[in-house]
Amino acid sequence: MESDIFFAKGGTAGTILGIGVDIVDVARIRRIHERHGDAFLKRVFTPAECAYCMSLAVPWPSLAARFAAKEAVSKAFGTGIGAEFSLQSVGVVNGARGAPLAELDEKGTALLASRGGSRVLVSLSHTATLAQAFAVIV
Ligand SMILES: CC(C)(COP(=O)(O)OP(=O)(O)OC[C@H]1O[C@@H](n2cnc3c(N)ncnc32)[C@H](O)[C@@H]1OP(=O)(O)O)[C@@H](O)C(=O)NCCC(=O)NCCS
Repeated sequence: MESDIFFAKGGTAGTILGIGVDIVDVARIRRIHERHGDAFLKRVFTPAECAYCMSLAVPWPSLAARFAAKEAVSKAFGTGIGAEFSLQSVGVVNGARGAPLAELDEKGTALLASRGGSRVLVSLSHTATLAQAFAVIV
């Protein structure tokens, strides 16, 4: 059940292993997208992120928030974006009630396991101009 992902069941609360936050300028993402089109989308975002964001009338705040989520998760791991954790290592999809769920690729899953973590929680927020994401590794 979706809520199980967010709330530990009685007596199984996890330890916080890392936190990360990032803010992204929506206009910057829009500019890069307008200049590089699909090549930018494919390089940075997962297919599920592209499908969701590009189904929206105004995709850039949601794209920017997902870009922020990648950086926030990379900060929570303490790696930044690079060899250990790439922009494709995490994607954000929406649960049935709209809440964001972090999905890790093989590299992200291996990194999480190497830290003794079991879940990556993310929260997103955006206005027309700024997007923000917060990440917690438990
Ligand atoms: C770590 C990273 C995500 C920081 O993001 P940023 O947008 O450059 O900078 P922000 O202003 O959001 O964050 C800066 C803060 O991140 C924190 N930070 C830096 N390296 C960090 C790391 N390895 N782990 C956790 N936090 C880190 C620091 O507190 C820093 O603040 P300070 O310089 O005042 O100490 C960044 O170095 C990175 O990996 N960027 C990838 C960029 C990229 O791939 N772009 C592709 C464009 S298409």
